[in-house]
Amino acid sequence: MTVARPIKLAILGGGPSAFYVASRLLQLLPTSHARGEKLRVHIYDRLWAPHGLVRYGVAPDHPEVKNCTHKFDKAAEDPRFRFFGNVNVSNTPSAIPHTVNVNLEALYPHYTHILMASGCTIPKLHPALPPSDICSPALSLVHWYTQHPTLPPPPPLEKLTHVTLIGHGNVSLDIARMFLTEPSHLAQYDVPPHVLDKLAQSSIQHVSIVGRRGPLEASFTAKELREMMNLPTAYMVPIDTDLLAKPEERLRELTRQQTRTLDLFKKGSKNAPGSTRKSWSIDFFRSPTGLSPSPSSSSSRAHLSLAHTTLDTQSRSIPTGQTSSLSTDLVITSLGYHASPTDAWYDPALGHIRNAQGRIISSAGEVMRNVYASGWAASGARGVLAGTMMNAYAVADTILMDRFPGEGGRGLALAAGPVVPPTSVGVSNAGARELLNADPDLDLDGMPGEVEDAVKMGRVTQYGDWKRIDEEEVRRGQKLGKERERMGWEEAQKFIFERT
Ligand SMILES: Cc1cc2nc3c(=O)[nH]c(=O)nc-3n(C[C@H](O)[C@H](O)[C@H](O)COP(=O)(O)OP(=O)(O)OC[C@H]3O[C@@H](n4cnc5c(N)ncnc54)[C@H](O)[C@@H]3O)c2cc1C
Ligand SMILES: NC(=O)c1ccc[n+]([C@@H]2O[C@H](COP(=O)([O-])OP(=O)(O)OC[C@H]3O[C@@H](n4cnc5c(N)ncnc54)[C@H](OP(=O)(O)O)[C@@H]3O)[C@@H](O)[C@H]2O)c1
Repeated sequence: MTVARPIKLAILGGGPSAFYVASRLLQLLPTSHARGEKLRVHIYDRLWAPHGLVRYGVAPDHPEVKNCTHKFDKAAEDPRFRFFGNVNVSNTPSAIPHTVNVNLEALYPHYTHILMASGCTIPKLHPALPPSDICSPALSLVHWYTQHPTLPPPPPLEKLTHVTLIGHGNVSLDIARMFLTEPSHLAQYDVPPHVLDKLAQSSIQHVSIVGRRGPLEASFTAKELREMMNLPTAYMVPIDTDLLAKPEERLRELTRQQTRTLDLFKKGSKNAPGSTRKSWSIDFFRSPTGLSPSPSSSSSRAHLSLAHTTLDTQSRSIPTGQTSSLSTDLVITSLGYHASPTDAWYDPALGHIRNAQGRIISSAGEVMRNVYASGWAASGARGVLAGTMMNAYAVADTILMDRFPGEGGRGLALAAGPVVPPTSVGVSNAGARELLNADPDLDLDGMPGEVEDAVKMGRVTQYGDWKRIDEEEVRRGQKLGKERERMGWEEAQKFIFERT
């Protein structure tokens, strides 16, 4: 009888992509199956709490998005699964002081497979708009209102009347909603008290959302735009109707999303112009060229210079030669994200990890045997959670197909649907390097010594620790009539490790 070879997978990153891969593998290889007995999945995240952008990204007034965590909890109940929070796996130390740092190579002797699920954590910056006291990347704002462990300082909302967001994506709309919604309404959600206090001091009256292309090219979705139109406490400045005319020659090509967007803009906001104290506007075909502080006598703090743009034949934005400027107090750039250049196998030309169908490719073009990428780390910062889930399932299937080749999925005793066959890239690439442990008798529960030590010292959160925190946060929230009251690391650490 042949002995089943183990799959012992270390996943770097504990966001939704990691949990969806883990969940799929654990489901497809149940413990009742010989191969399932030899499956282990260990997730490492540099943050102390799991779930990546679901905890530290999704806007607080979208609580339903976080329901995916029920599935993650279910996966974590499997005894073959472990989560190690507060562990940065990288050859570059984390900027968060309390994080345990482990080199990627330290994992190799302990695992048969590695999955990079480290997301796209770096905001794209605009060359004309470097961060300063009058210009901030959207991610700093998101990290502020989600109490991310990097703890960015609060924006000076009490000094601002006019804020400009650059970028027509959903993150811009998330931030605009946070600024234009009454803090008393936000108080029912997962918003930390210091954030609510700051929002209550805000003197923002207008939010301007500026993009370099037109309404048909905007990347925000209709649902999020409708929410903006229905804001109870703000109106939208009507858009020049010329910009909203359906170009006759393109009428048939419009997607449903584009038609909806145009219809929403034409209908305008629920509140009539001038009927509320706060307002917002959206500018199309404007690309920033510079930002300069205003002279102290001016009421606004900065002048944003804008090049007027149009579209070329490939729908790219190109300057027309005309320019204008906008007086504003704070510019927030929301231009999307890329993976960290310090991530292994990062490709600067792609802005994410080089891979084909989830299999990592070295800079020399070799398939890295048993090393994979999923989620935003593999695809770039595109798409919503449903897309991240589909990608993760496909990568989990690829891992299984590579481990059990030639079975076409049939020999896997599958419980949960078909395995997607691998496509163009061959796994038996002659140049592939074997990095990981291929010993059939590998210790299934072993891990790097530094992780083991850090676990003993109470520096690492495991999933059971997180669930206790999760329950406590919800309990504290309920007492205050809100979704949850978050803990920071210090409080969480005391709660987990110093309880009698
Ligand atoms: C601000 C924002 C709001 C969003 N809101 C929504 C929404 O409302 N609805 C929706 O459907 N989608 C939303 N999305 C998209 C959604 O969040 C993504 O589709 C999804 O989070 C991608 O999952 P991921 O696991 O690939 O990456 P992430 O969620 O980013 O997870 C990556 C994880 O890797 C960890 N990590 C990184 N480097 C290391 C390392 N070296 N060692 C250990 N761990 C590491 C990070 O700490 C993080 O936890 C939003 C995205 C953003 C940016
Ligand atoms: N509620 C939700 O479902 C939700 C919430 C938040 C995020 N998300 C998802 O998360 C992903 C990331 O969202 P995002 O808003 O960060 O990014 P995004 O959707 O990619 O939008 C980025 C915006 O920035 C613009 N931009 C990029 N580079 C620019 C430059 N150099 N100069 C001027 N403008 C520039 C883009 O314009 P061009 O198109 O011209 O490049 C685009 O309008 C998206 O897929 C989004 O749907 C979903």
